[in-house]
Amino acid sequence: LTPIWLDCDTGHDDAFAILLAARSDDVDLLGISTVYGNAPLQNTTYNTRAILKAIGREDVPVYPGASKPSTREAAHAPDIHGASGLDGTHCLPEPTMPAQTTDAVQVMYERLNAEPAGTAWLVAVGALTNIAALFIKHPGLVDHIAGLSIMGGAVGGGFTDAPMGTVAGEGERFGNHTPYAEFNIYCDPEAARAIFSNPVLAAKTTLTPLDLTHQFLATSEVQKSLLLSEVTMASGTPVRRLFFEILTFFAKTYADVFGLKEGPPLHDPLAVAAAFRRELFVYNKPGQTEHEHFTVDVVVEGEHGNSDQIRSGPSQCGRTVVRSLLPGQPGVTIPRGLDAPALWNLIEACLGAAEAA
Ligand code: BDR
Ligand code: CA
Repeated sequence: LTPIWLDCDTGHDDAFAILLAARSDDVDLLGISTVYGNAPLQNTTYNTRAILKAIGREDVPVYPGASKPSTREAAHAPDIHGASGLDGTHCLPEPTMPAQTTDAVQVMYERLNAEPAGTAWLVAVGALTNIAALFIKHPGLVDHIAGLSIMGGAVGGGFTDAPMGTVAGEGERFGNHTPYAEFNIYCDPEAARAIFSNPVLAAKTTLTPLDLTHQFLATSEVQKSLLLSEVTMASGTPVRRLFFEILTFFAKTYADVFGLKEGPPLHDPLAVAAAFRRELFVYNKPGQTEHEHFTVDVVVEGEHGNSDQIRSGPSQCGRTVVRSLLPGQPGVTIPRGLDAPALWNLIEACLGAAEAA
């Protein structure tokens, strides 16, 4: 079993990340910390508890973390996730277990540190505020954990042939919150910079950027095969109905906001899978066998603003500037590709396990 601590800002794709971490036979989910992001902290914490209730895992403790970055105001994404952070479903159960009151960062440290050295993964699928605070307070933890897996950032510049893998500023975009920035990094660029500029931590980090998540689209074909379609819902169980409605809402906002015809990309579960099913990702350039590593610089200059303005605005705040390292040099791991059918099977197996619970 891979011990995993999950840090999330539960919206629609985070719900699938929780499903994967909490319902896979191969994971020992140590706990969940929450962060502001898709919605304010109170909502993301509530949504996390409700999803755990829905999948029969209310035994997993939930710790509320940061409600804002340390040097900025909190940004949210109501146009993608709705005001609650998890709009679009009537199937979300009322959670029974209260949120924990102990300090999230301290508990994260204690739980990860209590696992045998080199075994536990920290998975972050929201703003990086809690994670940066953890490693600033406990710098020695980096030597103890197996790895840090982050969903965030956008590479662009021909990194892959994925739809968003193009250079912004030339009539194209590769971010999702702004033309340059992916939302999680945008939320707290200073926290992201603190993580990626720490060479020891960077060498233990696997990054799942938009370039990778846009190779994992929940197309209508995929939705049907996952038994998450109108047809299969007539006789669906409550948990499958919940995930169907979550996916349907997410697909609609992605279509409305980005004009994405086939989707949505299911970002967050990939960062969980990258921690315990590493063989499902590709770590080298086509035709080469070398495991690639990268440096990641984060642009912190620039103001946060109203999201309607910033979607087309010129600020590069939150941009991840990614450069290849020479073979053998330690750095951030960024998979270029993935085994989508195997990953969808994994999600289907976890849905099945949640139904059977
Ligand atoms: C990321 O931003 C959030 O809205 C999603 O949950 C995901 O973690 C994608 O950019
Ligand atoms: Ca998220």
